[in-house]
Amino acid sequence: MTLITPSILSCNLARLQDEVDTIESYADWLQVDVMDGHFVPNLSFGAPVLRHLKTKLPLDIHLMVENPEDRIEDFLSLKVKNITFHAEVTDTEERSALVAAIRDGGATAGIAMNPETPIDAIAKTIEDVDLVLMMSVHPGFGGQEFMVNVLEKVRAIREHYPNLMIQMDGGIDDRTAKKCIEAGANNLVSGSFIFSAPDRAEAIASLRSP
Ligand code: DX5
Repeated sequence: MTLITPSILSCNLARLQDEVDTIESYADWLQVDVMDGHFVPNLSFGAPVLRHLKTKLPLDIHLMVENPEDRIEDFLSLKVKNITFHAEVTDTEERSALVAAIRDGGATAGIAMNPETPIDAIAKTIEDVDLVLMMSVHPGFGGQEFMVNVLEKVRAIREHYPNLMIQMDGGIDDRTAKKCIEAGANNLVSGSFIFSAPDRAEAIASLRSP
């Protein structure tokens, strides 16, 4: 089953609770894009934004930050479902420590890779994580064009790791979702396609069975 994970980066953040309420019955997870303005050229939000959010959706924290180790406690205290950090800002040793700390805090641990990052950059880590997040845009902003060349990395990972959760994120809509699922992704993050749709339930359904 393919999980659909709306990203709140593209919603009306002045009405976050109302926006989440509109998709709560149809989505599986909810992604929170945490950006520090250093690892990515954009600044978003941190744990305080979630403190008063009421949702039954499991929270999926995507840390686009230079020092993920400094952020995880904030989010673990909110009992989030998953925390994903980036391969590009961690080495193998740091990743093992992060995975252990995230799991000790009751969440699953994911590693994200940018479109240009080769799979062998996570070779020593892929066995240790619960999820690989394959970025299909350069991280930092919603509404970008899907980068089709990352699909071959998804295929390669799926071939060697049939049971691993592979999440894709960036430019995912009813057209590109089909390509992602066919390549082996089973968790799709989508922001602008869902939150700009006239019928958000229909938009989410179109991602599941494109
Ligand atoms: C981009 C974020 C994505 C983004 C997806 O850096 O990580 O989650 O919000 O937005 P869309 O679906 O609009 O590409």
